Parts: sequence; C-alpha cells; structure tokens
Amino acid sequence: MTEPRHDWWRDAVTYQVYIRSFADGTGDGVGDIAGIRSRLPYLRDLGVDAVWVTPWYPSPMNDGGYDVADFRDISPEFGTLAGADALIRDAHAAGLRVLLDIVPNHTSHRHAWFAAALASAPGSRERARYIFRPGVGADGLLPPNDWLSVFGGPAWTRVTERDGSPGEWYLHLFDTTQPDLNWSDRDVHEEFLDVLRFWFDRGVDGFRIDVAHGLVKQTGLPDLGYEDEHLLEPPRIEDHPFWDRDGVHDIYREWREVADAYDPARVFVAEAWVDAPDRLADYVRGDELHTAFNFDYLRAPWSEPELRATIDSTVQSIGVVGAPTTWVLSNHDVERHVTRYGRKVTSALVGVDRAADAGPVDVALGLRRARAAALLTLALPGGAYVYQGEELGLHEVLDLPESALRDPIWKRSRHTLRGRDGCRVPLPWTTRGPSYGFGVGRCWLPQPPGWGALSVQAERDDPGSMLELYRTALRMRRELPALGDGRLRWLSDPGSDVLAFAREPEFACAVNMGPTPVDLPDHSRVLLSSVPLADGLLPTDAAVWLAT
Ligand code: GLC
Repeated sequence: MTEPRHDWWRDAVTYQVYIRSFADGTGDGVGDIAGIRSRLPYLRDLGVDAVWVTPWYPSPMNDGGYDVADFRDISPEFGTLAGADALIRDAHAAGLRVLLDIVPNHTSHRHAWFAAALASAPGSRERARYIFRPGVGADGLLPPNDWLSVFGGPAWTRVTERDGSPGEWYLHLFDTTQPDLNWSDRDVHEEFLDVLRFWFDRGVDGFRIDVAHGLVKQTGLPDLGYEDEHLLEPPRIEDHPFWDRDGVHDIYREWREVADAYDPARVFVAEAWVDAPDRLADYVRGDELHTAFNFDYLRAPWSEPELRATIDSTVQSIGVVGAPTTWVLSNHDVERHVTRYGRKVTSALVGVDRAADAGPVDVALGLRRARAAALLTLALPGGAYVYQGEELGLHEVLDLPESALRDPIWKRSRHTLRGRDGCRVPLPWTTRGPSYGFGVGRCWLPQPPGWGALSVQAERDDPGSMLELYRTALRMRRELPALGDGRLRWLSDPGSDVLAFAREPEFACAVNMGPTPVDLPDHSRVLLSSVPLADGLLPTDAAVWLAT
C-alpha cells in the first residue's frame, strides 16, 4: 500500500506514461489502461514512486489526446472509467501514486461547450466560454490579431454562422481543433474545480497541468509584434500577451484550496515554459502548485558551465519559496535525450524548433552521456521525472515515414517540421515477436528494426544495460538518506569541466564533461558508476556515485 507520507512529492521520482505508446492490452495497436495495469509490476520493480498518465479522455486525437472532448470520461480507445478506477486501485496497492494530465487552456472542438458555442450567436453566453472575436478589415476578413499557433499557422480560425454567413474568429494557440478557453469567464473556473474534484474523489493523487502558463490572455488581445513563435519556447518579451501572465496565479490558488481539502492532500505539477527561474518559482509558492517541471535543465547543453549555472539558479530561485526542485531530461514533446546528447548542439529542440540545426547524431556518444545524466539527475536535490523508455536508453526515431507522422506540427508547419512522433514510438518489451511485446502486432506508429535489442526483456538482468543502471540508481536513491529532498554542496570549481557535489550524509556525485579523465573526489567507496572505472579515474562523459 502507499505509505502515509504527506510530503511524498518533495522527492518523488515520477514516471511519465505516454498512454498511446506504453503497452497495448487490447490488441488494437494503441496503448491503453489495460496495458498500464499489466505493467504495474514493472514500474514497481523499476523503483519509481508515481506514475503520470498523459490524457486518457474522450478525444478526436488530433493532438494525441491533448484535445479533450470530455474531461470526466475515458476514451474508448484507452478503456473505461471502471478500468481507470481499477488502475488507480492497483497502482496504490503496488505503492505507486497516480497523477493525471489536466488540459485547462483549451478543449477539443468536439467538446459539448464548443458545439454549443458554434450553435449560438455572437455575444452569447455559450461563446463567452471561448475567445471569439470579430475579424478586422473589410468584412472581417483578417484575424483579430497577429498571434500565431505554436504548431504553425495563424492562431485564429473563422467560423461560419448558423445562417451560413462568414462569422467570428476563435482563438487556438495550438491546433484549429483546440479552441482556447476564456479564463475570464466564471463558468470555466467552476468547471475545472469540479473536474479536479471528480478525479480526486476517484483517488487520483494529483495532476500535471498542461500549458499552465497559457491560460490568461492580456485584456484587449494586443498584437504580439513578432512572428516566429514555436512550440515550447519561453516568452521572449516581458509582458507577453498570452504566456506567463500574472493572472494565472489566482487560478492556481483556487486549485490549491481544492487539493488541500483532501486527505491526503492532492498535488500539482506545472508544465510552464517561462523565461527565468524566478518566474517559475512563482508557480510553486506555498499557496499555489507543489512542483513545476524544470525545463531549463532539459534545455541545458551537455556542458559543465551551463549545467552548473542551471542547477545553481534552480536551487536558488525555487529554494526561496520553499518548494522542492525537480529535474527532467525528456518528455513526449522533445527529442529523446540519447539523441540530443549525441549531437554537436546538445541544447536544441529538434523537430519542434525551426531554428534548430543541431548536426548529425552519434547514438553511442548520446547513450554514454545519457547514462551519466541519469546519475546526475537522480542525485540532485528534490524530485525527478523519467519519460517512458529513457530507462531503456531509447533514442529518437528520426526516420519515421512521412505517411506515419501524426503530430499536428507536421501538417501545420507545411511539412517543414517533423514534430514529436519520434519520441512517441511504442515501447519494446520483448526482444522479438509482433510489436516487440507492445501489443499483438499492429502499432499506431511503426517501430524501427532492432528495437527489440532495447527491450525490457533484453536489458533486464544485463548489468551493463541502461535499465539496470536506472533500477540500481533508483534502489540506492531509496536507501541512501542523502538523496532526495535536501541541499547540495559543490566540490568542483566552476569552469573545471567537472560537476562534483556532496549530499549529506556521506555521499558525493561527480560527472566529467571534459576531454580527459579526472581523479575521483575523496571517497570511501564507489557506489555506482555510469561506465566501468579504472585506476581511480573518472573518464569523459561519465558519472559516479560515491560514499564519502
Ligand atoms: C503541452 C503538451 C503537448 C500538447 C500541448 C497542447 O505542451 O505537453 O503535448 O501538444 O500542450 O495541449
């Protein structure tokens, strides 16, 4: 059973399940709740504390389920409400917490509210829940402002009114099929408070909040003034008209009250792409959200000065508000870090960033660095996130056939950006067999040849595998009092190519990012290393955990 620790989230390791691609329990080629349930023993043995499941609600699936048609039900593709209840129960029995994904910035165009808005007249109550505006210019032919969709193309679509005449425009910061909600409308607030209670009453332990920084738009919807928005970029100007506006914090204070009314209190993690760590800290003030993803860490290049600076600024700004820091290397929106770390430019978000020109990939190099990064991440103070498959060392699938691409970015960028499908390829569970154990054969995205060599079956009990590195590190993390929440003390000097720090009691971690092997810091025993060590030296792109 789950332990009665109320502050479990301060140092939890949370495993992200991208439901479509995790495990297919029904044989239709799409991952589902039955698949997750069947793999709970795997997650328990891996040693994580919580599971975050990406949206599983009814949806036309134009954006992998982030286009929600009904926040209180389950997509038939993924299962049923009874199945969800059973999953929550089984996960708790296995000692795992369950976080869901809530999408408050927009609904699907198939949501009952949007259907009602389209069927109602301009100025109606139904339209007030979304952001409808008349167009500008002769006959309203032009969109209301210059905002672009982060998936490419304009952020506005014009509707046809009931009488067949060209009508108002509605805002969608993402796909046309994801109309933005109007958070100045009280109905929207009440609806989401109710949705939170719906799932909290079913035993869900918390929520990841999608696009937490996007809900509030500047009154008057002024022009942005620049054009090249793209996904996952922090705001480039102060007082941005739709990202990270101060008004979002009032919403999270309301949400916190709902979460705190439960015993044990429920928790939140924010997906907020903001431009400075102190802006992120605002989201995790004592009366707001519990934690937030640290995307500065995810975006940082594999280099000592930048990673050290990121760690320092994170610890400092998040520490000011008393929240735990968190660390994340990958998720379902970015290139898998084995691939990213194998490039010349290791900080680029290839696939979603027009400007990214990161060079070819050396997968062996990326894998070596990813092993070191795992030990670094799990030794830093606070909580950590593991994106499904990173524990297997999966790389980005860069050569998916164009006909297989599903991400709306591909179409909306007019086939200039391939998007995020390459990190969403279904997991390999077995070395061979149809879909490498993901399901019974079919797969919603094709798996590459050789995927079985990276499967759970291939890696389990292989002492040199990524899976065994994660399992060992996660086990030690539970056993060692130094790890998890707390502080770090640097042992290495800035500019030394080495990140070395101490955690109390009696623990040190060192990562060598320089070109030559370095001496290990003082220690009594080597606990774990990302590569075999020789002669008391730490080789290039390697990490070590030490008892001191
Ligand atoms: C978040 C999700 C991403 C989705 C977008 C729109 O960034 O992580 O997958 O496309 O929001 O909901």
